[in-house]
Amino acid sequence: MSKLISLLGLQWGDEGKGKVVDLLSKDIHAAVRYQGGHNAGHTLIVDGKKIVFHLLPSSICHKNIKCFLGRGVVISLDALFSEINDAYKFIGDIEARLIVSKAACLIQPYHIKIDQLRERSRSGTKIGTTGRGIGPAYEDRVGRRSIRVVDLYNPKTLKVKLEEALEIYNFLIKRYDKNQQEDINELLDKNLEQAEKLKPFVGNVISEVKNLQKKNKSILFEGAQGALLDYSLGTYPFVTSSNSSLGGIAPGVGLSATKIDYSLGISKAYATRVGEGPFPTELKDEIGTYIAEKGFEVGATTGRPRRCGWLDAVLLSQSVYLNGINGICLTKIDVLDGLEKVKICVDYTSPLSKEDILETMSLDDVKPEYIELEGWDQLTEGITNFNDLNKKAAVFIQTVEELCGAPVVIISTGPRREDAIIREYPLGK
Ligand code: IMP
Repeated sequence: MSKLISLLGLQWGDEGKGKVVDLLSKDIHAAVRYQGGHNAGHTLIVDGKKIVFHLLPSSICHKNIKCFLGRGVVISLDALFSEINDAYKFIGDIEARLIVSKAACLIQPYHIKIDQLRERSRSGTKIGTTGRGIGPAYEDRVGRRSIRVVDLYNPKTLKVKLEEALEIYNFLIKRYDKNQQEDINELLDKNLEQAEKLKPFVGNVISEVKNLQKKNKSILFEGAQGALLDYSLGTYPFVTSSNSSLGGIAPGVGLSATKIDYSLGISKAYATRVGEGPFPTELKDEIGTYIAEKGFEVGATTGRPRRCGWLDAVLLSQSVYLNGINGICLTKIDVLDGLEKVKICVDYTSPLSKEDILETMSLDDVKPEYIELEGWDQLTEGITNFNDLNKKAAVFIQTVEELCGAPVVIISTGPRREDAIIREYPLGK
């Protein structure tokens, strides 16, 4: 059955989306990224070799899937070419199946410089950005001064736009470091050179997606980051600068919001976060270390250790609600194997009402309230049939469903593709 399916992380990113793409890949014809840039990080194992992509959709390693970078993605051409080269080495030529929207905005070197300089100069208010120019590139997009892919093919206006940008950025950069000025001629030459290299990949994503729908093809919308990093709905200001929620698909692809057939949300069986920002269930004790070590919780983009904590059902059920989640894929349940007790946060103690907390995502002063479940000794690792799960792990999953109001349709029980329990296949039989 053909479907338009959205796949997004329900927490702060790194939920294991790549593996779920793998599970669905045989029934997917096309995949679209619609937001973010090379701040994302998905680790893929292709023929036993590890590759990390930041910008290309995870689906790129499946030769049957056509991949799109939609208008909502901010694109660093340096990053894109480097990933196309990696793809060439490990997967083969992807020219015929990668299309970059003409309307996508570009990350220029000055965006990266200012992102890093600004973050470095902050004292108490660091966001913990990946330093890849994502925020400044989106600021320009909203400020109506972005250089879009289409501008690369009009050298006259490109020069004018770059000059206008440098007027602002060289001024800002000088404030932090007077030795890092950008030169207009070098920048223009670089853009024009990259324009030639990009030509075979440039296309019209709206019409491509429309044609695929007419042909009844299944399309996957691959979210990057996670719902709690959405700049409108997440833990503002400790968020990324795009709509990493379901709502980002319509403007980020060019598709009506009513067209998505199935919204699949990915959540770990616990919680992690990279970078700064509130994290009510964070564990700074030996259980946090146990989870971090057992779950290999290190950021794929920056190599920073991920902060770890218990599953927060208050935030998870909010993500389920805001993203119209039809089914949850619960990942890394095997990481909890062997713990004596497993906790889930079900409420907060706070001077604010729960409604106020969720409206503003002011999580700084909340104290989590937990329910405590029996842990399990029997391994869940590698189990592929729900009935083979030990009772206590099954109770944990059932509790997550009850607290979040959505069924857990897939359970990932280990790092290998085959380590999964599929209770309901989101793409039908
Ligand atoms: P930026 O997206 O680089 O501006 O970073 C903003 C915040 O989002 C920081 O806390 C980053 O660590 C976080 N972030 C950005 N991309 C990802 C991701 O793919 N996974 C997890 N966290 C991310």
